[in-house]
Amino acid sequence: MKEIIQKMLIIALSFHLFACDGAKEEEKLEQESEAYANQLSLNVDSIALGDPVRGKKLYLQCRACHSLKKGEPHKIGPNLYSFYNRSAGFKDDFKYSDALSNSGIVWDYQYLDLWLENPQSLIPENKMVYVGMRKKRDREDLIAYLLIETQQ
Ligand code: HEC
Repeated sequence: MKEIIQKMLIIALSFHLFACDGAKEEEKLEQESEAYANQLSLNVDSIALGDPVRGKKLYLQCRACHSLKKGEPHKIGPNLYSFYNRSAGFKDDFKYSDALSNSGIVWDYQYLDLWLENPQSLIPENKMVYVGMRKKRDREDLIAYLLIETQQ
């Protein structure tokens, strides 16, 4: 009997610990979200924005080819610092495809969304090898993250 009670106690305790961990993790995420939201309201005009914390994870799909911060070197793709609302192909020291340089596109929210959904259909023969992000919500979240991270 004693043994059974002991076992039950251990089980109850581990559940409790587990739940605490979960709560802590959630709290951390909430704080991170809040910090992002503060930056957003400071820096970006009021467009419907997704969840940058989720966007950070989605950015793993881009990270091999792009850096985001001021002064970081280009990778396979251009460094994206301050790209938002600028003309496609604006970095003088990156060799873009003619298709992208001559597209006449400005990276506002709408074009960026179309680009991420399907780069080849927006600008045929561009040289970004990426199939596209199908889900609207994913793109919203990724864009929220990109807008924040490429401002500094
Ligand atoms: C395999 C490498 C690769 C991946 C993965 C990739 N890109 Fe690119 N990206 C490029 C290249 C190369 C270009 C330049 C294309 C051209 O010149 O035609 C580019 C161009 C861009 C541009 C236009 C920049 C400018 O200066 O006009 C944006 C914005 C962009 N990528 C965002 C993303 C995002 C966001 C992701 C992740 C979803 C991503 N890319 C994934 C290689 C990549």
